[in-house]
Amino acid sequence: MRSSDNLEFETLAVHAGEEADPETGALRLPLHMATTFKLPKFGGKLMSALLLETSRAPYAYTRWSNPTLRALEDRLTALEAPRGLADGTKVSAVVTASGMAAVSALVFTFLSQGDHIIVSEVCYAGSVELFGLHLPRFGIEVSLVDTSDPQQVRNALQPNTRLVYVETPANPILRISDIASLAGIAHAAGARLAVDSTWASPALQTPFTLGADFVIHSLTKYMNGHGDSLGGAVLGRENDMLKIRRDMLVHLGGAMSPFNAWLILRGLVTLPMRMKQHGDSAIKVAEYLESHPKVKRVFYPGLASHPHHELASRQMSGFGGMLTFQLKGGLGAAINMSEKIKIFSYATSLGHAHSLLFYYPADLYVDAASYLTKTQKHSIREWMGDGIIRASIGLENTDDLISDLDQSLRGNTLRGAVGPLVYKILKRKQG
Ligand SMILES: Cc1ncc(COP(=O)(O)O)c(C=O)c1O
Repeated sequence: MRSSDNLEFETLAVHAGEEADPETGALRLPLHMATTFKLPKFGGKLMSALLLETSRAPYAYTRWSNPTLRALEDRLTALEAPRGLADGTKVSAVVTASGMAAVSALVFTFLSQGDHIIVSEVCYAGSVELFGLHLPRFGIEVSLVDTSDPQQVRNALQPNTRLVYVETPANPILRISDIASLAGIAHAAGARLAVDSTWASPALQTPFTLGADFVIHSLTKYMNGHGDSLGGAVLGRENDMLKIRRDMLVHLGGAMSPFNAWLILRGLVTLPMRMKQHGDSAIKVAEYLESHPKVKRVFYPGLASHPHHELASRQMSGFGGMLTFQLKGGLGAAINMSEKIKIFSYATSLGHAHSLLFYYPADLYVDAASYLTKTQKHSIREWMGDGIIRASIGLENTDDLISDLDQSLRGNTLRGAVGPLVYKILKRKQG
């Protein structure tokens, strides 16, 4: 289905981008595991294919485009911006090999030496390290600020600011930034706003309707939902996306495998129902943890205690499946929990059917970050304490998940007892 025809989100998640195969009638798009396509005969179409004149140019080579990748791009566009931007400009998508390939495609397409970018000081470690450690190597000025405070963004603006980049909700601490307010600030200064909306997905948040110019997703997470393929996407105005395809897919090469695109297309079919279930369970888990005597603090945007609960309620249609919490027992208690969980897995990543837990010690993730100032470290520590456990609430039965956490908070293990000492020794050894 090419056009969204005012259809609802759940319908688009099933149909957009795929049509019955004209030859066989198969309702799933055949997987096009081909790198190379027979080119049109000499003439305009051939030139269009070779020069990538439009985002729908004839296929030539999969790093540029491919029928399975295009189907995924069409579905993502239908889910994020079925009616384009407020001024009627058409939106399209470019899919990439991973979420990080999408982030790097965006910044390396639109920033050059001498440009300035303002970014969330807290976002996915790969992104904040790309901004804080690598962009300066290319002569790009970077201001890391707390984007949940619009005044900090306003104060950081410079005449050469081209992009404001926010992650909301932010990984891992779940700060929420006000997309509409930041879009206004960026636009007034002649800059553009990019939003990494991975933790919300278009089921819960649509940044284009709030004024964003670019939306980024790690498709590896909720969009795929099954933990079996990496992927990323950038969405924005069609001419900007053509530039990314020409400048970054062709030259930097971070193209997605058609097989991953096919799996992500399949995952997207159930995105609306999965996001509802993740959220229904997460609020119950958050409430359980908030009332537990061994838990110091819980951050979940759906809890009234979350500092940005009011903004999240306004900006999102649900609060998602991610939460973080601090244990009174610190690192030892976190190790203990990681040893005892049975249904949850101790693992990185998020957005899967499987529930996952991961511990972030603040000394490693905050204190050691050379690109953060003392004040920034202090403000992040207000959310993290000495460390947080990040929980990705999966699709298992909610009561089973709560029972698993409950049993994991009882009793001690040997590793929980000696772990903090071993951690100290290992850290000292690494210098
Ligand atoms: C918000 C966010 N953006 C980007 C990424 C990077 O995605 P990928 O692992 O697909 O490169 C992640 C990964 O956790 C993430 O959480």
